[in-house]
Parts: sequence; structure tokens; C-alpha cells
Amino acid sequence: MLRKTPPYIVLKYLFAHKVLSLCYTIHMKLQNKTILITGASSGIGRAMALRAAKDGATVVLAARTADKLETVAQEVTALGGTPIVVPTDVTKIEDIRNLFLKATEGGRKLDVVFNNAGLGFIGKVWELPAEQIQTIINVNTTGMILVAKYAAEVMQRQKYGHLVMTSSLAGLITLPEWSVYVASKWAITGFADSIRYELSPEGVLVTTLHPGMVSTDFFAKEKANQDMSKLDPNALTADQVAEEVYNALFTKQRKIIIPAMSKNIAFLQKYLPSLKDSLFTTSLGKVDYNKTTPQEDEPAFSYVEEVK
Ligand SMILES: NC(=O)c1ccc[n+]([C@@H]2O[C@H](COP(=O)([O-])OP(=O)(O)OC[C@H]3O[C@@H](n4cnc5c(N)ncnc54)[C@H](OP(=O)(O)O)[C@@H]3O)[C@@H](O)[C@H]2O)c1
Repeated sequence: MLRKTPPYIVLKYLFAHKVLSLCYTIHMKLQNKTILITGASSGIGRAMALRAAKDGATVVLAARTADKLETVAQEVTALGGTPIVVPTDVTKIEDIRNLFLKATEGGRKLDVVFNNAGLGFIGKVWELPAEQIQTIINVNTTGMILVAKYAAEVMQRQKYGHLVMTSSLAGLITLPEWSVYVASKWAITGFADSIRYELSPEGVLVTTLHPGMVSTDFFAKEKANQDMSKLDPNALTADQVAEEVYNALFTKQRKIIIPAMSKNIAFLQKYLPSLKDSLFTTSLGKVDYNKTTPQEDEPAFSYVEEVK
């Protein structure tokens, strides 16, 4: 009888509403929080910006291309987030300092830094122009370490925060034709695992992200010396990767290795490297990388002349 009275129905509705909104709030990890993202103008960084925007986060967007960042900023606003656009080249120390100054303006706290900007030119080491080798290391390794340095400086002062660094599956395994990229990403894996010692006592979490192939502009010919768009129909989407990063936020997860198959490959690399090498030599040997010819950019080099 009581169950049919209006006060009971109203109370029941209010209780259900409260529980539902509580669950929603708990799930909205980035509500009223700030996340700084490098490489936010496309791919995984953009996807992460949009995921954070859905929680109403303040999203600091960094990459070199200002107009692309403005487009992402509009998408962030449309989803309920607050964008802050800071055009940044991670190979320039002044740009990185400026990024962190703008991000922390007015005493703003940094809850998450997604240190993600990167690129990869593919080719045998003797084929790659020296400038491309330098660029890979400058962006993927030096740039990422410098961004981590400033993130760590802010977060150790806050005694709080989560630093997520995009390495790659290539930061756990070796690959033919990717040696320089692999070197740049192994460096990040080792660096992140080491700063975890330093930052953990300061209350700061460190996680590395190790995706296999993700369908993004990363594989555009001008960026990678090859068009890999047709290579892997099972490539992850940037949204899938962003969701995995989101789920790991504010947890003590050390590494995000996706898709699941990648964990088996990383296991083989660690414990049965010869078997892994033979599997990869066979399978990758058949891959048509559809490469451009980067060696055309290289000036002719005469060993005899140099020795003289
Ligand atoms: N796609 C994959 O299969 C894959 C797999 C494993 C790991 N990853 C890693 O995931 C990260 C994101 O790559 P993605 O796949 O999302 O590729 P993407 O769509 O090409 O995005 C790369 C981002 O990095 C930015 N960037 C490049 N150089 C920069 C610089 N000097 N300073 C600042 N920003 C710079 C680019 O913006 P601007 O050009 O505007 O600067 C862009 O926003 C990279 O670290 C990559 O190594 C990718």
C-alpha cells in the first residue's frame, strides 16, 4: 500500500537518481581535472582529448600545427570540455617551458600529462637520411624526456599526478626496418621505468603505453616513408587506445600493452628472442612496405673520398 503513495514514489525516484549520478561521477575520472596532451592535433592524442572532454575536463592541447589544434579545441568544447591551445614543438626547450607555464597559469593543478607526441620514419638504417634519424630521436626520445622533466617538476611539487608516456610495442620488441624508431621507444620504456623510482615517493604515478599498430596519420607516407594503410586490417583505432589509457588513469598500472596479442609477442621477445626473431623474419620479410625512396634525399657518399 505504502509503495503506491506519492511520497514513496518520489523518494524512490530520488534515491535511484542519486545512486545513478554517484556511479556516473565516480566513472567520470577527469571531471574538474586538467589533462595536458602532447601530439593532441591528431591520432591517439586527439582521441584522448575528446575522451577527456566527455568528462568535462580542462584539456591542454599541444602539437606544432596550430590550425589542427584549433579544430580539436572546437571538438573538445562541443563535448563539454575546456580547451587550452598551446602550439608547441617538443624539440624546442622554450616551447616546452611555455607549454607548462600556460598549463599551470593561475596555479592550475595538472592531474594528468599524456606525453604522446611522436613520429617514425621507416627504413633500413643505411637508407634513412641522417636528418630523419636525428628527427626521430629529437622528437620521440629527447622531446619526450624534456616534457617528462617539466611534468615531473610540477607534479612532485603537487605531490600528486599521473604521467602517461607513449612508448610502443616497438618499445618492448625489436623489428626489422624500424631500428631507429625501436631505439627511440626502448629509450622511453627504460626512462619511464626509472623515473617511477623517483616519482613514486612523491605520490606521482607513471605508466607507459605500448600499442601495436594503430590506424592514424602516423603511417602517412610523408611522415613514415611509407603508406601502411592497407597493411593491417586489424589495426587498433585511436579511440580504442584512448579508452585503454582512460581506464588506466589514477591506477598503479605500469604498462598498457594492447592489443592482447602484443603481450604474447613481448613475452617471446623477453624469454624466447630467437624464436620471436625467426617468426618476424619470416612474416615481416613478406611485407610490402610500399616505401618511398628516402635515400634519394641523401647526398652521394664516397667512402674512398672520405678516407683520403
Ligand atoms: N600509430 C601507431 O601504430 C602507433 C603505435 C605505437 C605507438 N605510437 C605512438 O603514438 C604516438 C602518437 O602517434 P599517432 O599514431 O597518434 O600518430 P599521429 O596521428 O601522426 O600523431 C602524432 C602527433 O604528434 C605530433 N608531433 C609530431 N612531431 C611533433 C613535435 N616536434 N612537437 C610536437 N608535436 C609533434 C603531431 O602533431 P604536429 O604534426 O601538428 O606537430 C601529432 O599530433 C606517437 O608517439 C607514436 O610513436 C603509434
